[in-house]
Amino acid sequence: MPDDVILKVRDLYRTYEISGGMFKKGSTLTAVKGVSFDVKRGSTLAVVGESGCGKSTLARMLTMIDAQSSGSIEIDGLSMDIAKTGISKEMRQKVQIVFQNPYGSLNPRQKIGHVLEEPLLLNTDMPAAERRDLALQMLEKVGLQPEHYGRYPHMFSGGQRQRVAIARAIMLQPKLLVLDEPVSALDLSVQAQILNLLADLQDEMGLTYVFISHDLSVVRYLADKVMVMYFGEVVEYGTRDEVFENPRHDYTKTLFAATPRADAESIRKRLAAKVA
Ligand SMILES: Nc1ncnc2c1ncn2[C@@H]1O[C@H](COP(=O)(O)OP(=O)(O)O)[C@@H](O)[C@H]1O
Ligand SMILES: [Mg+2]
Repeated sequence: MPDDVILKVRDLYRTYEISGGMFKKGSTLTAVKGVSFDVKRGSTLAVVGESGCGKSTLARMLTMIDAQSSGSIEIDGLSMDIAKTGISKEMRQKVQIVFQNPYGSLNPRQKIGHVLEEPLLLNTDMPAAERRDLALQMLEKVGLQPEHYGRYPHMFSGGQRQRVAIARAIMLQPKLLVLDEPVSALDLSVQAQILNLLADLQDEMGLTYVFISHDLSVVRYLADKVMVMYFGEVVEYGTRDEVFENPRHDYTKTLFAATPRADAESIRKRLAAKVA
């Protein structure tokens, strides 16, 4: 694999057995059907598609929350097939996930300092003082303050909680971040701040993003490549400009026709206003 490709996915499938109830036969649902793509180091692949098309299923496989039914995932030269090999510390350090709803992924009884240090506790033998230092550094990196270290999740706003989730995701200095609708639950002005933060972190840390979103204005703002999924399959894959300017598949045309072009313009303005 050329080393500028950090994520290589080939013919990936995920099926679910659906129980049929007392008298019906069960059936099989194929949520991801033969998906293949490459992502270049330091770039952003946006994954787009309507609800139920398999985006989160893909995200769970890329981040080892779920095993694939078949097919291969290679991250930074490491083959990820957890059903066969289990999950090693080395694998965990390659990839992390950020969810749409950070509240759901934060334990309400844990102080933020503990939330941030947990990945280090589980994956390294770093001494407590160093863990604390790193947690404080990451808080600063995501625009939070040292005093947030001892606070509980409920004391934060939605945007701040998403900053915490991002800080936790980068504690192990992963190469790849999978972001599953990371700004979809936030107000527009907060969305812009979080997107700015993600752009800064990508530059600073050389991160690669797989960014799942149904918001085409967000995708247009941050994607290098765009992949459109439809009923578990990839129906469109190309550079942002190729896909936006010249969508090929009927589904993509419909999807894009439903989104006013002005959206991309307006989000750029919001972001520009925030930076100024
Ligand atoms: N654990 C599961 N068991 C059974 N079906 C599932 C499970 N997770 C997802 N699905 C089904 O797989 C399909 C894809 O879901 P998902 O990946 O969540 O889509 P998206 O994130 O694009 O909305 C849907 O039909 C969903 O109902
Ligand atoms: Mg989803």
